[in-house]
Amino acid sequence: MEQARTLAAAVDETRQWDRLMALAKIGAIPGDGVNRQALTAPDREARRLVIGWAREAGAEVSVDDAANLWLRLEGAEPGAAPVLTGSHMDSQPQGGRFDGIYGVVAGLEVICALRDSGIVPGRPLEVVAWTNEEGSRFAPGCMGSMAWAGTRPLGDFADIADAEGVRFADALATHLAAEVDLPHRPLGGRPHAYIEAHIEQGPRLEAEGFDIGVVTGIQGSRWFTATLTGASAHAGTTPVSRRRDALQAAVRAINALNLLMDDPADRLRFTIGSLVVEPGSSNSVAGRVRFTIDLRHPDGAILAARGDAIAAAVAEAAAPVAAIVEERFNAPPLAFDDGVLHSIRSAANVLDLRWTDMPSGAFHDAQLVAAVAPSAMIFVPSHNGISHNPAEFTTASQLAAGTRVLGSALLARARLPN
Ligand code: GLV
Ligand code: MN
Ligand code: MN
Repeated sequence: MEQARTLAAAVDETRQWDRLMALAKIGAIPGDGVNRQALTAPDREARRLVIGWAREAGAEVSVDDAANLWLRLEGAEPGAAPVLTGSHMDSQPQGGRFDGIYGVVAGLEVICALRDSGIVPGRPLEVVAWTNEEGSRFAPGCMGSMAWAGTRPLGDFADIADAEGVRFADALATHLAAEVDLPHRPLGGRPHAYIEAHIEQGPRLEAEGFDIGVVTGIQGSRWFTATLTGASAHAGTTPVSRRRDALQAAVRAINALNLLMDDPADRLRFTIGSLVVEPGSSNSVAGRVRFTIDLRHPDGAILAARGDAIAAAVAEAAAPVAAIVEERFNAPPLAFDDGVLHSIRSAANVLDLRWTDMPSGAFHDAQLVAAVAPSAMIFVPSHNGISHNPAEFTTASQLAAGTRVLGSALLARARLPN
């Protein structure tokens, strides 16, 4: 308990905030936002900053085949399985300054606080920045953690292309070539525990006056891409009866999906966040439309039933336009580990912080790591619940409180024997 307080006192709110603000300048967009998508030059530039700070703090830096970035601080027993923390550094195209990057900077701050306070954890501490959590450049998200956890082989993602047609495998190779100076480590591992700190991305903590969300689980998510192929034609000369208009078919399909996804309880989340029309010309009938479907629900049975019905609903509504629906991601609902949750609640109690148990509506890398190591997450408040938006905001002191809980909980899990 004494060590937890000492470590918490060594967490430097200003250092952490200044680092977040320095990182937010890389890929900055108007309105305080950030566009730092996975495996781009801004992503690499941000990682270099983190690598420099980690080395200054005495951490060893390495990278794996999926370009997950690792920072390691030795413990009293170097051979022991490490305690692991981290999150992601990539952002949405119009993202904020805190989603993901907070968890990486918080982990680094714990390394710095351990060093500054002279506390040596029993187990080694590792901080990881997972590659492509957002899935906005290359869909789906969580590629780095999926490849590391063995959920899917890295090769599965090779041919997935971004909007410019760049293949994931090529972007990854370019990225790894730029980090060839870093020691390489193999994919996979068996950490003793994983704790991810993240902004809440919803309104609850702020509205109810809590400092900390103890994240008990994550609702399930499924991602699909629908491709509707009709025939492009002249807008002035082609009678409607002779058209195979892919955009009109998409409108029918989306209406059918809205009916399928109707949920009077308002627990189901259904989003069409991207729709691309080809050729995309006002005087041509649309020949091809591609749209994404993001479906989430905390109940695995509902998620399965509604998700499994999507392909038929789209095909029926789109006819006679041909429809193909491909599933890109399927993460079932998950309950986090009771022991790790207990460590987080105890840390918040010792630090006199107001906490509440809560589920996560967003998916996170922790959902994949949980298959390999006992895992849980810590949330800090998001002002007005805004996220995936440049206006995302959490105060420096709220962020520091989350880092203090993270450090104390990691220290407890790092204790030997345990
Ligand atoms: C993560 O960014 C999510 O979409 O839940
Ligand atoms: Mn995130
Ligand atoms: Mn996000």
